[in-house]
Amino acid sequence: MFLDIAFAPRAPFFDAGLKAHIITRYTDVAAIVASPKVTVPRIELDVAVRLNARFPDRFSALSKWAEGILIHLDGPKHVAGRDRAKGMVRHAWDSLSAAKLKARAERLLDDQGAAGKIDGTRLAADYIDGPWSDLLLLSLEDARHIIDGSEGCLTEWSQIVALNKYQERNAKTAALMDRVLAKIRLQPCPWSTEGFLDIDAPVMLFILGLANATVKHTITNMLYTLAADQPEQDRLRRDPSRISAFVEEVLRMYGAVRFRDRIAGPDGLEDYAILPGERIRLYFESAGRDPDVYPDPNRFAPERYLDTTRPAPILSFGGGSHLCVGRLLARLQMAALISALVERYTLIFDERNPVSFPDIASLGFKKLPLRLAPR
Ligand code: HEM
Repeated sequence: MFLDIAFAPRAPFFDAGLKAHIITRYTDVAAIVASPKVTVPRIELDVAVRLNARFPDRFSALSKWAEGILIHLDGPKHVAGRDRAKGMVRHAWDSLSAAKLKARAERLLDDQGAAGKIDGTRLAADYIDGPWSDLLLLSLEDARHIIDGSEGCLTEWSQIVALNKYQERNAKTAALMDRVLAKIRLQPCPWSTEGFLDIDAPVMLFILGLANATVKHTITNMLYTLAADQPEQDRLRRDPSRISAFVEEVLRMYGAVRFRDRIAGPDGLEDYAILPGERIRLYFESAGRDPDVYPDPNRFAPERYLDTTRPAPILSFGGGSHLCVGRLLARLQMAALISALVERYTLIFDERNPVSFPDIASLGFKKLPLRLAPR
């Protein structure tokens, strides 16, 4: 079955097709992700192309600038951007209590469950959608900063994406979006230094989907895990203090981000015979199944996190300077949903034919037919 893939960690090896060193063992992934000798590869900005397709009248000029442009995710602005992203998460944390999230989960379960059948993917998407919109609205501060005249323009760019996405639903955002766009038309962007853009990358990643798709997929995987294990549902019902251990085990085995890439810096990585400039693929997923760190690694066992001798921390949120800024929020969202679910329902597979998400980088489902039986 889809989620039953077992990974056998092995020594680093070079994938000639991918032209990347594949790193799978926990200790290696943990060491390299935290190493100052690697950097995150640049990404190509395809946002412009997408925006242009949707709003040809508005974005064609921007699109022409941005098409094919590379963004440096580890540029000098990284730390500042990360702080801003953290600020956004902190606001969300303050406004989204566990109780509010749980109430939201209960409403959704009751609404969607009324039809008998639910799609786990849709439930997960709807569940995080509210908090996610709230989060984006918190970034309005940044948008105001743009309107009031900021010198850079890629902060503006990321804000455009955010505002664009939510403008249909929120009048306040829509009005702000128009003002941002007006400003941008007036003030074309003169950037492009050294062939790549240095932007508030974490803020941009945050807005483009790290906080959205990752939580959605991980929650869908969690629903699958729950539906597959009725006795575990009973245990969670009887003992809610088990929930956080359950969440941690879902993240260890079924975190949505299967791998992330790095590029070796000018010194290379001697210990691994990796040369400067070579690509490295860090498999968080396989590190989470390393038998040297997690005994019987392919067995789903929340007890690991209840034992006094806890296993090594999971790498599903990455590590080092790019460690996920939303990890606590993600855990909170997951726990609140489980709590609402097991209290009121039994979760069962509707048909055993879930459709996996067609992307090798993400572990998740496109379709997960489930049923909620009221208790
Ligand atoms: C279960 C859900 C989540 C998973 C599995 C996940 C996973 C990850 C991983 C693996 C990274 C590291 C990427 C790298 O090293 O290249 C990361 C970074 C990041 N995550 Fe998450 N994430 C989740 C939820 C969230 C949430 C809820 C937020 C925000 C509210 C968020 C915001 C970010 C940001 C901004 C970064 C970039 C940090 C940086 O580059 O400095 N993530 N996430």
